[in-house]
Amino acid sequence: MPKANREFLKAYEWTELDQHTTDQQKGLPRPELQKPIPPNAQLIDLIPPEEFSLGTTQVIDVILRRASHRRFNQEALTLEELSFLLWASQGVREMDTEDGITYVMRTVPSGGNRHPMETYLSIHRVAGIENGLYRYLPLDHQLVLEKSDPDLPERVKQGSLNQNSGSAAQPYFFIKEAAVVFIWSAIPYRSEWRYHVAAARLIALDAGHICQNLYTAAGAIGAGICAVGAFDQIKMNEVLGVDGEDEFVIYMAPVGKIPG
Ligand SMILES: Cc1cc2nc3c(=O)[nH]c(=O)nc-3n(C[C@H](O)[C@H](O)[C@H](O)COP(=O)(O)O)c2cc1C
Repeated sequence: MPKANREFLKAYEWTELDQHTTDQQKGLPRPELQKPIPPNAQLIDLIPPEEFSLGTTQVIDVILRRASHRRFNQEALTLEELSFLLWASQGVREMDTEDGITYVMRTVPSGGNRHPMETYLSIHRVAGIENGLYRYLPLDHQLVLEKSDPDLPERVKQGSLNQNSGSAAQPYFFIKEAAVVFIWSAIPYRSEWRYHVAAARLIALDAGHICQNLYTAAGAIGAGICAVGAFDQIKMNEVLGVDGEDEFVIYMAPVGKIPG
Protein backbone atom coordinates (compact mmCIF):
# COMPACT_ATOMS: atom_id res chain seq x y z
CA MET A 1 0.00 0.00 0.00
CA PRO A 2 1.53 3.38 -0.95
CA LYS A 3 2.11 5.66 2.02
CA ALA A 4 1.96 9.41 2.38
CA ASN A 5 4.35 11.02 4.80
CA ARG A 6 3.19 9.95 8.26
CA GLU A 7 5.52 12.11 10.30
CA PHE A 8 2.46 13.54 12.00
CA LEU A 9 1.93 10.22 13.81
CA LYS A 10 4.97 11.01 15.95
CA ALA A 11 2.94 13.79 17.47
CA TYR A 12 0.35 11.18 18.53
CA GLU A 13 2.79 8.97 20.44
CA TRP A 14 1.62 8.66 24.00
CA THR A 15 2.52 5.46 25.78
CA GLU A 16 3.15 4.25 29.29
CA LEU A 17 6.84 4.38 28.43
CA ASP A 18 6.53 8.06 27.66
CA GLN A 19 9.36 9.92 29.33
CA HIS A 20 7.86 13.36 28.91
CA THR A 21 7.29 15.38 32.06
CA THR A 22 4.41 17.74 31.46
CA ASP A 23 4.42 21.38 32.49
CA GLN A 24 1.55 20.60 34.84
CA GLN A 25 3.70 17.93 36.55
CA LYS A 26 6.50 20.48 36.79
CA GLY A 27 4.13 22.76 38.67
CA LEU A 28 3.99 25.47 36.01
CA PRO A 29 0.91 27.70 36.17
CA ARG A 30 -2.28 26.63 34.43
CA PRO A 31 -2.70 28.40 31.06
CA GLU A 32 -5.38 31.07 30.68
CA LEU A 33 -8.94 29.84 30.05
CA GLN A 34 -9.63 32.53 27.46
CA LYS A 35 -7.45 35.03 25.60
CA PRO A 36 -7.38 38.36 27.41
CA ILE A 37 -9.62 41.25 26.39
CA PRO A 38 -7.55 44.11 24.95
CA PRO A 39 -7.89 47.48 26.73
CA ASN A 40 -10.63 49.79 25.35
CA ALA A 41 -12.08 46.85 23.43
CA GLN A 42 -15.53 47.18 21.90
CA LEU A 43 -17.70 44.56 23.58
CA ILE A 44 -21.14 43.25 22.66
CA ASP A 45 -23.36 41.57 25.25
CA LEU A 46 -24.99 38.38 24.02
CA ILE A 47 -28.38 37.02 25.08
CA PRO A 48 -27.85 34.77 28.14
CA PRO A 49 -28.92 31.11 27.84
CA GLU A 50 -31.63 31.44 30.52
CA GLU A 51 -33.39 33.94 28.22
CA PHE A 52 -33.31 31.79 25.06
CA SER A 53 -36.71 31.30 23.48
CA LEU A 54 -35.36 28.97 20.76
CA GLY A 55 -33.62 25.64 20.49
CA THR A 56 -36.67 23.59 21.44
CA THR A 57 -36.76 21.45 18.28
CA GLN A 58 -36.82 17.73 19.09
CA VAL A 59 -33.35 16.19 19.04
CA ILE A 60 -34.58 13.33 16.85
CA ASP A 61 -35.76 15.82 14.20
CA VAL A 62 -32.45 17.69 14.29
CA ILE A 63 -30.47 14.46 13.88
CA LEU A 64 -32.76 13.14 11.15
CA ARG A 65 -32.27 16.34 9.13
CA ARG A 66 -28.56 16.81 9.87
CA ALA A 67 -26.64 17.59 6.69
CA SER A 68 -24.06 20.00 5.36
CA HIS A 69 -25.48 23.07 3.60
CA ARG A 70 -23.62 25.09 1.00
CA ARG A 71 -26.39 27.49 -0.09
CA PHE A 72 -27.78 30.23 2.14
CA ASN A 73 -30.53 32.83 1.76
CA GLN A 74 -30.14 36.55 2.47
CA GLU A 75 -31.89 36.46 5.85
CA ALA A 76 -29.79 37.80 8.72
CA LEU A 77 -29.31 35.84 11.92
CA THR A 78 -30.77 37.48 15.01
CA LEU A 79 -28.64 38.30 18.04
CA GLU A 80 -30.45 35.57 19.96
CA GLU A 81 -29.69 33.00 17.27
CA LEU A 82 -26.03 33.94 17.21
CA SER A 83 -25.91 33.87 21.02
CA PHE A 84 -27.41 30.39 20.98
CA LEU A 85 -24.95 29.09 18.37
CA LEU A 86 -21.97 30.43 20.30
CA TRP A 87 -23.18 29.16 23.65
CA ALA A 88 -24.02 25.72 22.21
CA SER A 89 -20.59 25.34 20.62
CA GLN A 90 -18.28 26.88 23.23
CA GLY A 91 -20.40 28.36 26.01
CA VAL A 92 -20.15 27.87 29.77
CA ARG A 93 -22.75 25.78 31.58
CA GLU A 94 -21.22 25.83 35.06
CA MET A 95 -18.43 27.68 36.85
CA ASP A 96 -17.05 26.82 40.31
CA THR A 97 -14.19 28.18 42.36
CA GLU A 98 -12.35 25.86 44.76
CA ASP A 99 -9.22 26.85 46.70
CA GLY A 100 -8.91 29.95 44.52
CA ILE A 101 -8.99 27.95 41.26
CA THR A 102 -11.87 28.49 38.87
CA TYR A 103 -13.25 25.41 37.13
CA VAL A 104 -15.30 26.05 34.02
CA MET A 105 -17.57 23.43 32.49
CA ARG A 106 -18.66 24.00 28.89
CA THR A 107 -21.44 22.81 26.61
CA VAL A 108 -18.93 20.63 24.73
CA PRO A 109 -16.50 18.04 26.09
CA SER A 110 -12.75 18.59 25.90
CA GLY A 111 -9.83 16.26 26.67
CA GLY A 112 -8.91 16.99 30.30
CA ASN A 113 -11.31 19.97 30.24
CA ARG A 114 -8.45 21.93 28.63
CA HIS A 115 -10.62 23.74 26.01
CA PRO A 116 -7.77 24.81 23.72
CA MET A 117 -9.97 26.58 21.14
CA GLU A 118 -10.90 30.23 20.61
CA THR A 119 -13.91 31.09 18.41
CA TYR A 120 -13.61 33.91 15.88
CA LEU A 121 -16.51 35.10 13.75
CA SER A 122 -16.47 36.72 10.36
CA ILE A 123 -19.83 38.45 10.66
CA HIS A 124 -21.55 39.22 7.36
CA ARG A 125 -25.27 39.40 8.24
CA VAL A 126 -26.32 39.49 11.88
CA ALA A 127 -29.06 41.94 12.90
CA GLY A 128 -27.72 44.75 15.06
CA ILE A 129 -24.03 43.85 14.72
CA GLU A 130 -21.72 45.68 12.35
CA ASN A 131 -19.78 43.42 10.03
CA GLY A 132 -16.25 42.59 11.07
CA LEU A 133 -14.03 40.07 12.78
CA TYR A 134 -15.10 39.26 16.33
CA ARG A 135 -13.99 36.83 19.02
CA TYR A 136 -16.28 35.05 21.46
CA LEU A 137 -15.55 35.43 25.16
CA PRO A 138 -17.11 32.29 26.68
CA LEU A 139 -16.45 33.31 30.30
CA ASP A 140 -18.27 36.61 29.79
CA HIS A 141 -20.70 35.47 27.07
CA GLN A 142 -19.74 38.54 25.05
CA LEU A 143 -18.19 39.32 21.70
CA VAL A 144 -15.09 41.45 21.33
CA LEU A 145 -14.47 43.30 18.07
CA GLU A 146 -11.07 42.24 16.70
CA LYS A 147 -11.14 44.37 13.56
CA SER A 148 -13.43 46.05 11.06
CA ASP A 149 -12.34 45.13 7.57
CA PRO A 150 -14.63 45.54 4.55
CA ASP A 151 -12.51 42.99 2.68
CA LEU A 152 -12.94 40.34 5.37
CA PRO A 153 -15.55 38.14 3.58
CA GLU A 154 -13.36 38.10 0.46
CA ARG A 155 -10.24 37.29 2.50
CA VAL A 156 -12.04 34.44 4.28
CA LYS A 157 -13.26 33.14 0.92
CA GLN A 158 -9.74 33.20 -0.50
CA GLY A 159 -8.33 31.71 2.70
CA SER A 160 -10.68 28.78 2.30
CA LEU A 161 -9.39 28.04 -1.18
CA ASN A 162 -12.25 29.83 -3.01
CA GLN A 163 -14.47 26.81 -2.39
CA ASN A 164 -17.76 27.08 -4.23
CA SER A 165 -20.87 25.03 -4.64
CA GLY A 166 -22.13 26.45 -7.91
CA SER A 167 -21.16 25.66 -11.48
CA ALA A 168 -18.04 26.74 -13.36
CA ALA A 169 -20.16 29.36 -15.12
CA GLN A 170 -21.90 30.50 -11.95
CA PRO A 171 -19.75 29.81 -8.91
CA TYR A 172 -21.49 30.30 -5.57
CA PHE A 173 -18.95 31.12 -2.90
CA PHE A 174 -20.87 29.74 0.05
CA ILE A 175 -18.32 30.81 2.65
CA LYS A 176 -18.51 34.45 1.55
CA GLU A 177 -22.32 34.24 1.22
CA ALA A 178 -22.85 32.86 4.76
CA ALA A 179 -24.39 35.09 7.42
CA VAL A 180 -21.46 34.29 9.69
CA VAL A 181 -18.35 32.15 9.44
CA PHE A 182 -17.13 30.45 12.60
CA ILE A 183 -13.33 30.20 12.57
CA TRP A 184 -11.81 28.15 15.38
CA SER A 185 -8.21 28.60 16.37
CA ALA A 186 -6.25 26.28 18.63
CA ILE A 187 -3.94 27.48 21.38
CA PRO A 188 -1.93 24.24 21.73
CA TYR A 189 -0.25 25.06 25.04
CA ARG A 190 -3.55 24.84 26.91
CA SER A 191 -3.59 21.13 26.08
CA GLU A 192 0.21 20.56 25.98
CA TRP A 193 0.45 21.82 29.58
CA ARG A 194 -1.21 18.56 30.63
CA TYR A 195 -0.68 16.19 27.68
CA HIS A 196 2.62 17.17 26.07
CA VAL A 197 2.85 15.57 22.58
CA ALA A 198 -0.51 13.84 22.89
CA ALA A 199 -2.11 17.30 22.76
CA ALA A 200 -2.05 17.11 18.95
CA ARG A 201 -4.57 14.28 18.92
CA LEU A 202 -6.77 15.72 21.66
CA ILE A 203 -6.98 19.16 20.05
CA ALA A 204 -8.18 17.65 16.77
CA LEU A 205 -10.80 15.59 18.60
CA ASP A 206 -11.97 18.65 20.55
CA ALA A 207 -12.47 20.61 17.33
CA GLY A 208 -14.81 17.90 16.04
CA HIS A 209 -17.00 18.09 19.14
CA ILE A 210 -17.32 21.85 18.85
CA CYS A 211 -18.38 21.74 15.23
CA GLN A 212 -20.78 18.88 15.85
CA ASN A 213 -22.57 20.88 18.54
CA LEU A 214 -22.77 23.76 16.08
CA TYR A 215 -24.39 21.45 13.49
CA THR A 216 -26.94 20.44 16.14
CA ALA A 217 -27.66 23.99 17.30
CA ALA A 218 -27.91 25.28 13.72
CA GLY A 219 -30.33 22.46 12.90
CA ALA A 220 -32.47 23.43 15.88
CA ILE A 221 -32.99 26.98 14.55
CA GLY A 222 -33.42 26.15 10.86
CA ALA A 223 -29.97 27.36 9.89
CA GLY A 224 -27.54 25.60 7.58
CA ILE A 225 -23.89 24.87 8.28
CA CYS A 226 -20.97 23.21 6.53
CA ALA A 227 -17.78 22.03 8.26
CA VAL A 228 -14.71 23.36 6.44
CA GLY A 229 -11.36 21.69 6.98
CA ALA A 230 -9.89 22.59 3.59
CA PHE A 231 -8.24 25.99 3.89
CA ASP A 232 -4.92 27.71 3.33
CA GLN A 233 -3.29 27.56 6.76
CA ILE A 234 -1.07 30.60 6.25
CA LYS A 235 -3.79 32.81 4.75
CA MET A 236 -6.31 31.93 7.45
CA ASN A 237 -3.78 32.56 10.23
CA GLU A 238 -3.21 35.97 8.64
CA VAL A 239 -6.95 36.70 8.54
CA LEU A 240 -7.09 36.24 12.33
CA GLY A 241 -3.72 37.86 12.92
CA VAL A 242 -2.34 34.81 14.78
CA ASP A 243 1.24 33.56 14.57
CA GLY A 244 0.56 29.99 13.39
CA GLU A 245 2.68 28.56 16.21
CA ASP A 246 1.18 29.45 19.58
CA GLU A 247 -2.21 29.91 17.92
CA PHE A 248 -3.40 28.63 14.54
CA VAL A 249 -6.64 28.12 12.65
CA ILE A 250 -7.88 24.55 12.93
CA TYR A 251 -11.45 24.42 11.58
CA MET A 252 -14.16 26.63 10.09
CA ALA A 253 -17.92 26.57 9.53
CA PRO A 254 -20.06 28.98 7.50
CA VAL A 255 -23.61 29.31 8.86
CA GLY A 256 -26.66 30.95 7.33
CA LYS A 257 -30.42 30.68 6.99
CA ILE A 258 -31.74 28.19 4.45
CA PRO A 259 -35.13 28.05 2.76
CA GLY A 260 -37.44 26.22 5.24
C1 LIG B 1 -13.33 17.30 9.11
C2 LIG B 1 -14.26 17.74 8.01
C3 LIG B 1 -13.81 18.63 7.06
C4 LIG B 1 -14.67 19.06 6.04
N1 LIG B 1 -14.24 20.00 5.15
C5 LIG B 1 -15.07 20.44 4.19
C6 LIG B 1 -14.66 21.47 3.30
O1 LIG B 1 -13.56 22.00 3.38
N2 LIG B 1 -15.54 21.86 2.35
C7 LIG B 1 -16.80 21.33 2.24
O2 LIG B 1 -17.54 21.75 1.35
N3 LIG B 1 -17.23 20.35 3.08
C8 LIG B 1 -16.39 19.91 4.05
N4 LIG B 1 -16.83 18.96 4.95
C9 LIG B 1 -18.22 18.45 4.86
C10 LIG B 1 -18.24 17.06 4.23
O3 LIG B 1 -17.98 17.16 2.85
C11 LIG B 1 -19.60 16.42 4.48
O4 LIG B 1 -19.78 16.20 5.86
C12 LIG B 1 -19.75 15.08 3.75
O5 LIG B 1 -19.73 15.26 2.37
C13 LIG B 1 -21.03 14.34 4.13
O6 LIG B 1 -22.15 15.18 3.87
P1 LIG B 1 -23.18 15.55 5.04
O7 LIG B 1 -22.46 16.33 6.10
O8 LIG B 1 -24.25 16.37 4.37
O9 LIG B 1 -23.71 14.25 5.60
C14 LIG B 1 -16.00 18.55 5.96
C15 LIG B 1 -16.44 17.65 6.96
C16 LIG B 1 -15.60 17.27 7.96
C17 LIG B 1 -16.12 16.35 9.04
